[in-house]
Amino acid sequence: MRPRTLRARLVAGMLVLLALACAGVGAATSIMLERFMVDRIDQQLSTIGGRFAASLEHRDEYGEDGDTRGQSPGTLGVRLVNGGVTDAAVVSPAVPDPVLSAADRSALAALPTDGRPRTLRLSSLHHYRVTAVGGDDGDVLITGLPLEGIESTVHRLQFAEVAVFAAVMLVTGVAAALWVRLSLRPLQRVAATAREVARLPLADGEVALPGRVPDEDPRTEIGQVGEAFNRMLGHVGDALARRHASEQRMRTFAADASHELRTPLATVRAHVQLARREAGDLASRSPHTRAPAMSPGPSPKESPGPAASVESAGAVPESVRHALERIDAESARMGKLVDDLLLLTRLDAGRPLARDEVDLTRVAIDATGDARVSAPDHRWRLELPEEPVTMTGDADRLYQVVANLLGNASAHTPPGTTVTVGVAAPSSDTVELTVADDGPGIPGEIQDEIFERFVRADKARSRASGGSGLGLAIVKAVAAAHGGTVGVESRPGRTVFRVVFPRR
Ligand SMILES: Nc1ncnc2c1ncn2[C@@H]1O[C@H](COP(=O)(O)OP(=O)(O)OP(=O)(O)O)[C@@H](O)[C@H]1O
Ligand SMILES: [Mg+2]
Repeated sequence: MRPRTLRARLVAGMLVLLALACAGVGAATSIMLERFMVDRIDQQLSTIGGRFAASLEHRDEYGEDGDTRGQSPGTLGVRLVNGGVTDAAVVSPAVPDPVLSAADRSALAALPTDGRPRTLRLSSLHHYRVTAVGGDDGDVLITGLPLEGIESTVHRLQFAEVAVFAAVMLVTGVAAALWVRLSLRPLQRVAATAREVARLPLADGEVALPGRVPDEDPRTEIGQVGEAFNRMLGHVGDALARRHASEQRMRTFAADASHELRTPLATVRAHVQLARREAGDLASRSPHTRAPAMSPGPSPKESPGPAASVESAGAVPESVRHALERIDAESARMGKLVDDLLLLTRLDAGRPLARDEVDLTRVAIDATGDARVSAPDHRWRLELPEEPVTMTGDADRLYQVVANLLGNASAHTPPGTTVTVGVAAPSSDTVELTVADDGPGIPGEIQDEIFERFVRADKARSRASGGSGLGLAIVKAVAAAHGGTVGVESRPGRTVFRVVFPRR
């Protein structure tokens, strides 16, 4: 039930304070009014003195009611002789002779005769203000004036105050709620801007921060918050812009570097192949072009084609032939690495992809066919639906996705592993590609970062023998460029890569 918003708390606090103030004012006015009126009665009492009570002794002279001349209605006169009430009268046309109870009589008898006014509760009459004075002949003369009028006046005042205060509280409550809402409006603008910033994807890319908070008056608290907030937004904006610029520089650098590396690399490879051909090493082979995407480059253990090299073996020493072969293999690997880097930097830069109608089933069949040839020791299975599954995308890049996944399934599992390639359309606007194998699986500690660049399970493995760790980064970047996602589930005996693309 406690108010939560600042607005509700301010209004509630204001109303509580106002109620306290009203209660204080109400109590003070009724006490003061009562005192004032009692003072007036006391003055009246001292004017009357014992006159009325004394007149009761001489009823034969003044009549049954005593000397009521000049006495205000309700005036009580009592005469005591030897502590006992002998006469009592009230100035009132209705009941001139009050019937006093025994308690009232003893209360009257107990009054000190000092002439000081006191308040007395008489059970048979109203509250009275009474004074007692000693009479001439040893009797006690008591005069009283009723407090009834005062009490009803004070009650009327209290009623009026409660009504007025309630109305004031109501009006103040409404006015305060409106006013607080109005005063806090700038704070809401700060909150709205902060929420907008919180919703922005600040992690990467170019970020357009929302406009500044308009309230910047440093004399107000909210203005100070707004100013600090704007300054913070400024710093964040600067930092983000600087980060974006440095990312751009890095990208341009990587793109330029990989692009620049291609030409000398192509020259090196051409010369190496020429040299190998001269040495008779490549006589029976077609000129070596870039290795298929899914194989990590020609293995250094590949046989150098013994039949062709026999005749020239004498001319070129074996060590030189081996060196040429290594240069060829490593420059092929480097070529693939440079191509992968260039592709990644292009995808990073958001280069537009081709938008063809691609038959994903066809792509899966082709890529699996290629994998069968390059990894004949694995078992390759296809799980395709009856109808071809098509999507809009870049056919070459999609082929590369499948090829990279299949390359991994053959490169990182032992021979004899079964690899299942599946294509499906789980809903009318998504298509799904799965590559599952029953190999040893991906270690748990790198599963979360497997799609990052240069992440490989076996870090100790020499780069010369394995891949570079860019294959899955390319899969993720191509999937993202198509608006899709990629995920992996892996445990020993079952590893499934699942890529989901939107159909259009
Ligand atoms: N099917 C799989 N089974 C077991 N481990 C896998 C599998 N697929 C990927 N991995 C692990 O994930 C790592 C990253 O794969 P990724 O394709 O990104 O790089 P790579 O294959 O090592 O090199 P590249 O593909 O660039 O030639 C691999 O090094 C391997 O450790
Ligand atoms: Mg790979």
